[in-house]
Parts: sequence; C-alpha cells; structure tokens
Amino acid sequence: MSVIDPRDRMIVALDLPSVREAEALVDQLGDSVSFYKIGMELVYAGGLDLVRQLSSRGKKVFLDLKLHDIPNTVEKATARVVDLGATFLTVHAFPQTMKAALAGKAGSPLKILGVTVMTSYNDDDLIEAGYAMGVRDLVAHRAVQAKQIGINGLILSPEEVGAMRALLGPGMALVTPGIRPAGSSKGDQKRVMTPGEAIRAGADHLVIGRPVTAAADPKLAADAIFAEIRAAIG
Ligand code: C5P
Repeated sequence: MSVIDPRDRMIVALDLPSVREAEALVDQLGDSVSFYKIGMELVYAGGLDLVRQLSSRGKKVFLDLKLHDIPNTVEKATARVVDLGATFLTVHAFPQTMKAALAGKAGSPLKILGVTVMTSYNDDDLIEAGYAMGVRDLVAHRAVQAKQIGINGLILSPEEVGAMRALLGPGMALVTPGIRPAGSSKGDQKRVMTPGEAIRAGADHLVIGRPVTAAADPKLAADAIFAEIRAAIG
C-alpha cells in the first residue's frame, strides 16, 4: 500500500462562487495546502480550467462531479477527466457506473471514489425512492460491492469511517467531509468529527471547507488543522 504524504491528507474544498475568488484563496494558502476539491458549483462557474491550472502548479485536485449516466457516457467522461490531470473523481456507487469509470481511467493515476449513499438521505428517503434497505445496510452493501469491483476509495461520513475501515480492511482510500476542529462552528453539518478523531477512526483524507475558507486567516487555520492531522498520524 502506498504511503500518503501527510500534507495530502487535508483536502480543502474550494466551495466559492467564482474562479477569481478560488484563485485568490489558493494563492493565499500557498504551500500550506497541496490538495483541493472542486465541486459542481465552481465547475459550472467556469472552474474546469482551474483543475488544469492547479495540476500544473503541482497541486492535486479532487474533482467532485458525482458522475452517474449510461456506461458509455461515464467511461468517456472519465477519460476526459484524466486529461485534466485530476487525482480523484467521484461517481455514484452503482456497479455499472463504477465499472465504466474504471474502464475510462484505465492506465492513468486517476483514482475513482464511490459515493455510497448521500448523507442527506435517511431510511425514509430510501423507502420513498423504492429501496428495501436502510441507509446503514445500503452503505455496507455498496462499499463491499465497490471493493469487489476494484474502485479506489469511498466518500463516507465521519461516523461511517470506523465501521467501513473494519469491514473493508486497508487498501481503499476513505475520504470524509464533516470535519470540524474543536471549538469551530458546525454550520449546517450535524454529525462532525475533529481532524484527529477522523484520522484515528481510519480516514485517509479529510475534506475541509468552511473551517478554512471562512476563517479570518485561512492559512493559519489550514496550518492548525494540518498540525492536528500530523499529530494523529503519530
Ligand atoms: O464547509 P464544509 O467543511 O462543511 O464542507 C464540506 C465539503 O464536503 C463540501 O464541499 C460539501 O459539499 C462536501 N460534502 C459534505 N457532506 C457530504 C458529501 C460532501 O459536506 N456527505
């Protein structure tokens, strides 16, 4: 199993309304941050070029597109994401979709992360959508399926990380949002863990948005979170 550069364990989510603001934050954070997440909001605001730009500046990019379409489309879209130089790409953890993404990235270093069940869903939402399983069972079912298919990692809420690490063993990259340093505001996140708790629970990478992007001094905030991650790695 490859060793993760400690700095790469912290992924800062560039949840900003414009490319200009995202570029300014990246400049401000400098060497303190090596890995960024670009999601749909920024992509639809013209942020795809930023993926190339960040890659050429030696930064890693997690492109959070949550792909889900017919296999032919997913495979070809994934191949184009490879061209952009992204390090992680998310797809919904449906077998056809995961297999197509793996085919599309074949031979490249891009890692495909499966989104098991959106954390905004509860058991009632799954019943309403026609599923016969609750959230916990569906997450476990899809996680095992993702591993069998050969997917590189999963996006999980902090409270799922420990159980999924135990179920899946080492080897799959477990990536978790919902991280709040002790004493910081939860915002709209309900179930949160500190960076240290999430690392100790078995997370490989932490997605951190507002604790950095909304901080009075984002660089200072990122450095403090990194120090906590480093201490938890031991
Ligand atoms: O600002 P905050 O740290 O809450 O940002 C977390 C990031 O992780 C956001 O980009 C959010 O969309 C994403 N995310 C999440 N919960 C999920 C999946 C993704 O917060 N279940």
